[in-house]
Amino acid sequence: MKAVIIGKSGQLANELIAELPEDIEVLSLGRSDVDITTYDDLSAKVKSFQSNVIINASAYTAVDKAESDIDVAYAINEKAVEIMAKIAKENNCRFLHVSTDFVFDGESNIAYDVSSKTNPTSVYGASKLAGEQAIKITHPENSAIVRTSWVYSTYGNNFVKTMLRLMEEKEQLGVVGDQIGCPTNAKGLAQFLWLLASHNDLEQVYHWSDAGVASWYDFAVAIQELGLKHDLLDKKIPIHPISSSAYPTPAKRPKFSLLNTADSTSICKQVHWREQLELCIIGLSSES
Ligand SMILES: NC(=O)c1ccc[n+]([C@@H]2O[C@H](COP(=O)([O-])OP(=O)(O)OC[C@H]3O[C@@H](n4cnc5c(N)ncnc54)[C@H](OP(=O)(O)O)[C@@H]3O)[C@@H](O)[C@H]2O)c1
Repeated sequence: MKAVIIGKSGQLANELIAELPEDIEVLSLGRSDVDITTYDDLSAKVKSFQSNVIINASAYTAVDKAESDIDVAYAINEKAVEIMAKIAKENNCRFLHVSTDFVFDGESNIAYDVSSKTNPTSVYGASKLAGEQAIKITHPENSAIVRTSWVYSTYGNNFVKTMLRLMEEKEQLGVVGDQIGCPTNAKGLAQFLWLLASHNDLEQVYHWSDAGVASWYDFAVAIQELGLKHDLLDKKIPIHPISSSAYPTPAKRPKFSLLNTADSTSICKQVHWREQLELCIIGLSSES
């Protein structure tokens, strides 16, 4: 099997390469290789590689910046996704795309199903939902949308690395305690995507996160505990839960965005977020 990965420098793309199954040949494309907002360039690359699968790991992911950078957010999260879906269809490729828990408004208090009503509260969430809709119209026969949440990795920038840095720099930390969801190690997400690449009877939408539930405060406390255990931190500081209103951001985030992943766990074994976090912390520790 041959797979094109789009967005090669991001967290997920790096984990897709790290978790690459032996029997898959891959072409990983980044910003300098292809302009994903124009059809011709990407179409030619997919055609000449004779790909069977396209995995879109690229996205406009700057959630707060998107509030004022609306056109660019839609160009990447909707228009480019529509182009990729069209190219996938023309080349008989399966198209795997990653979306977000931010397509939901967070007013639920039970985990969101794949069929739950979407109602994004941010430009980022709305642009990602527009990308989902473009796929459903353009290439519904052989595509899957995988919604995920709170992604981190040993690669790239993310909450885990930011917390570890702040825990070194500061004497105490306030972390939002009233937003509930689930962290996701991009490594597990990558494993799930590779299984979907050859899965029979593909569904249109999947939910994938690690197992369990957490607030950002819970996540930060665990990062400190595991950072101390694996020598990434050398001192313990007090961490306080704060409310979202004490940490205003340009984009409104859902207060509750737990995803019901039950259907996905029959395809790929799910691991508790704390165990996945420890794997990432061990990885970071071996790099330092
Ligand atoms: N991170 C999260 O917490 C989170 C949560 C839920 C869902 N997701 C979704 O998960 C997927 C993977 O996210 P991630 O965390 O791996 O993202 P990431 O680390 O921010 O990587 C995004 C990638 O997209 C690329 N990209 C952005 N604009 C581009 C453009 N115009 N042309 C080419 N490449 C472009 C970036 O390239 P450069 O490095 O060159 O900018 C980067 O490689 C995304 O679909 C995201 O929406 C993420």
